[in-house]
Amino acid sequence: MGSAAGGGVPQWNCGAELCRRARAGDPLCPARTQTGLALSANGRDWILIGASPDLPEQIRNTSALHPAPGETRASPIAAVVLTGADVDAIGGLLSLRERQAFDLLATGRVHASLDANLIFEVLGREVVRRRPVALDEPVELVGGATIELFAVPGKPPLWREAEEGIAHREDEATVGVMVRHGRARLAHIPGCAALTPSLAERLAGVDLLFFDGTLWSDEEMRLSGAGEKTGARMGHMSLSGPGGTLAAFDAVPARRKLLIHLNHTNPVVADDSPERARVKALGWDVAHDGLRISLPR
Ligand code: MLT
Ligand code: MN
Repeated sequence: MGSAAGGGVPQWNCGAELCRRARAGDPLCPARTQTGLALSANGRDWILIGASPDLPEQIRNTSALHPAPGETRASPIAAVVLTGADVDAIGGLLSLRERQAFDLLATGRVHASLDANLIFEVLGREVVRRRPVALDEPVELVGGATIELFAVPGKPPLWREAEEGIAHREDEATVGVMVRHGRARLAHIPGCAALTPSLAERLAGVDLLFFDGTLWSDEEMRLSGAGEKTGARMGHMSLSGPGGTLAAFDAVPARRKLLIHLNHTNPVVADDSPERARVKALGWDVAHDGLRISLPR
């Protein structure tokens, strides 16, 4: 549904070249909403991964997520899966408050962040079932697919930094999702600070990989005048460089690899950039809003 990092493309307060192009409707630098995926194993029941603040727009733009003809109060959205508690992962939950039943799946840690924020009580607990999911334990979802959450290196959500610090860790705060249906395997990892050997092993051979494409280079925010933070400080590995994502995944086979969670400063968001040509040459694609993919079982 969406392919951008927090803030989207264009970001509201950015007047740099890429955002200007997206704002002007340049077809080679398309606007992007914040990262989110909708998937279905049976074509009827849908599971969302990620609930960004752009979710209402994404649902409007995705006909499979609309009430079926003749239904006055219904939604094909059966479940929402969260990968962390950053605003760009949970903000859209507030737009699902119209007393529609669905399952909300996340680690105990992410649920604790929601539980501690009274505003999320607008999701009435008698209609929205909050389901804590243990790491590394597959959970079967309506429609026949299973999901498994696994820890990836990351940092606590931006809004929890004062309380929890900024050190990278690998725990329930930042997770990836492995979806299985029949023999098909899809992995969705919008934020990742490092590709560890165990993560590389887990991802080897997946049919479809959606991976953190936040920044092209670690210093990109500073060099472009967008801010002071490095990618590492934000808990995101960068695409380029010796320890970057492109190099790190060289030895990890996957049938199709797509970059998601693209920051508005990342030159790969433009179809005509040399950086885009570079990622394509290395076997990656850049996801775009509205992209649809079918996986054989
Ligand atoms: C991130 O991915 O670094 C966060 O989403 C930042 C934020 O909350 O804006
Ligand atoms: Mn983010």
